[in-house]
Amino acid sequence: MKDTFGRTIDYLRISVTDRCNLRCVYCMPREGVPFIPHGQMLTYEDIVSFTRFAVSRGIRKVRLTGGEPLVRKGIADLVRSLAVLPGIQDLGMTTNGLLLEEMAAPLKEAGLHRLNVSLDTLDPQRYERLTRGGSLKKVLQGIQAAKKAGFGTADAPLKLNCVKMPDTTQAQLDRLRDFARQEGLELRLIHLMDLEEGTFSKVEGGEGGHCAQCNRLRLTSTGILKPCLFNNLGYDIRQLGYEKALEAALKNKPLAGTHNTMDSFSYMGG
Ligand code: 5AD
Ligand code: SF4
Repeated sequence: MKDTFGRTIDYLRISVTDRCNLRCVYCMPREGVPFIPHGQMLTYEDIVSFTRFAVSRGIRKVRLTGGEPLVRKGIADLVRSLAVLPGIQDLGMTTNGLLLEEMAAPLKEAGLHRLNVSLDTLDPQRYERLTRGGSLKKVLQGIQAAKKAGFGTADAPLKLNCVKMPDTTQAQLDRLRDFARQEGLELRLIHLMDLEEGTFSKVEGGEGGHCAQCNRLRLTSTGILKPCLFNNLGYDIRQLGYEKALEAALKNKPLAGTHNTMDSFSYMGG
């Protein structure tokens, strides 16, 4: 499908939960953000039926995000239901990796095509500080489990996402790069973004961040279809119905991002 500026829209990012088992300094305040009541969250049935509809209209690529997608119960079942939708060519997930040790094999088996693991540093103390308490060891074990489960190949890519902080040194980046090379994984650098200020940028090695070529829509965990991360616009798929919400998102997708003063990364997915 095309938006009003002629951009092909074929990518849907779905935030399956706003909850997270970390509190990364660039994503959430220390005390966390008020969680959305479970009753307001889309059910898996909602997510699958909306995705089926979106795929029938031309979505080809789907990515599950959060919050942290692996903290939502039964996530492998959702993956399984999405993976078999006719027309889905690519089904990915972005995770902090903490629960991958247990979940990597079930996810692979359920039909997940690709994984991105957030990893901002290989220094355990710095990791703990940036994530406010996270265990680097758990993530590294998760990455090994993912490789063992069959991720990290041309067919099932495993990528590392590193958010570059103002105090991230070249030495830290080199260490991450060496690690990625050793493990045969791709490292992608993400510049720190600010939704309200409207500072956004391209993920090095990623395809986003170029408004002129933006191919994506976002579905929040409460069922708001957002045409742009850096904009307050959003259309409720349950209130409006799938057809109207999709139409509105396509029609109103801005030419370029500006500011988002309403939402957080944990709610919309990065
Ligand atoms: N700037 C850039 N990326 C962010 N993410 C979350 N908050 C930000 C931010 N302020 C992204 C990161 C992280 C993923 C879960 O969300 O890529 O790895
Ligand atoms: Fe959780 Fe990801 Fe936000 Fe970190 S960046 S707090 S892992 S949602």
